[in-house]
Amino acid sequence: MDTKSLIRHLAKEKNAVILAHYYTEGDVQDVADFVGDSLALAQKAAKTKADIILMCGVHFMAETCKILCPQAKVLIPDLAATCSLAESCPAEDFAEFVKAHPGHKVISYVNTSAAVKAVTDVVVTSGNAREIVESFPPDQPLIFGPDRNLGEYINSVTGRQMLLWDGACHVHERFSLERLIALRREHPGAEVLVHPECKGAVRKLADVVGSTARLLGHTKESPCKEFIVVTESGILHQMRRACPDKTFIPVPPDEPGCACNECQYMRLNTLDKMLKCLQTEQPEVTIPTDIAERAVLPIEQMLDISSRLGL
Ligand code: 13P
Ligand code: SF4
Repeated sequence: MDTKSLIRHLAKEKNAVILAHYYTEGDVQDVADFVGDSLALAQKAAKTKADIILMCGVHFMAETCKILCPQAKVLIPDLAATCSLAESCPAEDFAEFVKAHPGHKVISYVNTSAAVKAVTDVVVTSGNAREIVESFPPDQPLIFGPDRNLGEYINSVTGRQMLLWDGACHVHERFSLERLIALRREHPGAEVLVHPECKGAVRKLADVVGSTARLLGHTKESPCKEFIVVTESGILHQMRRACPDKTFIPVPPDEPGCACNECQYMRLNTLDKMLKCLQTEQPEVTIPTDIAERAVLPIEQMLDISSRLGL
């Protein structure tokens, strides 16, 4: 049996569900039971009856699975698959920031550790951040962390003035504005699709700003035949599969010869590690009970609001 067949065979035998984020390698996505954005992955984990969840993504995604599905064993192919954005928000520092601003409700992007979620009122993803922020009364003071770019974007579209934590994703911060401008000139008919973790100057050139799922959905619905894609390049796999007759052009980062439009943490997920992980049931992601008990509340809050809004 080849590695993919062995993975599928073991997953069935062990009643394991394999979840993968759009930013993983194409062959990882192809062997998964479900591929989605952060919101869809959390929604899937909340509903699963599997004994094992193999989360092919990054560590905070596996933590979210464990928090929402504590009875399952949650595995991750490589424990080193962290997230620069989550790392830019140490829990103790964030708790101090929250304490220094009494009267504020705390909104945290899902790209955070469980310990940050434990001091949060409601979690958001890029797929529901705008709607969840708008669900608060306009005069409610809000803290938003850790992504300053997403926070600035939500402030701009909602007219709020949320206090922002100064964090960022190293992949989305590095897209080259100059290369994007040049690509637009070379492909005047193309639509520009931008993830909201990108800097404001890049977002300004977008035809569509949205989560990975939203950008993918747009490529299917749009009559346009060419798209310039300003997010992690793993998403191109699903875009090309869904629309083989359309052209997708990734935007390179500033540094010449650097593959920074790939998230090196997402790329730690490989078929060989997935197989080993299912064979050994290691590495497992666990969370101290006191943190998990507090972190589940803002995540459930997010899922409730999202389901009420049909997101
Ligand atoms: P999505 O909410 O689009 O899945 O984004 C997750 C992420 O890590 C972006 O860098
Ligand atoms: Fe984190 Fe950025 Fe990688 Fe997304 S692309 S997982 S935000 S480091």
